[in-house]
Amino acid sequence: MKEERFQVSYLVYENEGALPSEDALLLAGARKALDSAYAPYSRFLVGAAALLENGQTVLGSNQENASFPLALCAERVALAAVESAFPNAKIMAMAIAIRNLKRKIERPAAPCGACRQVIAEKEWRQKSPFRIILQGETGPVYVLPSGKDLLPLTFDPEYL
Ligand code: THU
Repeated sequence: MKEERFQVSYLVYENEGALPSEDALLLAGARKALDSAYAPYSRFLVGAAALLENGQTVLGSNQENASFPLALCAERVALAAVESAFPNAKIMAMAIAIRNLKRKIERPAAPCGACRQVIAEKEWRQKSPFRIILQGETGPVYVLPSGKDLLPLTFDPEYL
């Protein structure tokens, strides 16, 4: 028997002002995407911004439905938008911003499990990781080197 470990390290910036300018700009894009969120049921807005290798930024936001389980997460909306507009484009980074209309959240919110799986498959497809940049409504910003850091022991297409 042996024990194995996962180690995840990520950078913590005091706020968006402390970020390198490229990441600060991308996070501002994610915050802009909050304006297009449709979240009348949860009143929890999520914005995602993907930076492509070609320099383009693609936005996504959460889209809810009166049939609650049909809600689409911002991260997967952004990833689908990337593939639709720029098939197979390489993603360099994704920023995720939130706003809870009921109370102010001052710590980063990480993607849900389903989004982590879809992020991991995009990394697998493009054969390279991309940075994940997370912030609450205000407060510290986390920068993870890869989406896979959020999903150890990932189920990937090579099993199939
Ligand atoms: N949501 C996202 O957009 N991304 C996540 O990773 C977590 C949750 C959305 C779904 C729903 O519209 C609202 O946040 C509350 O769960």
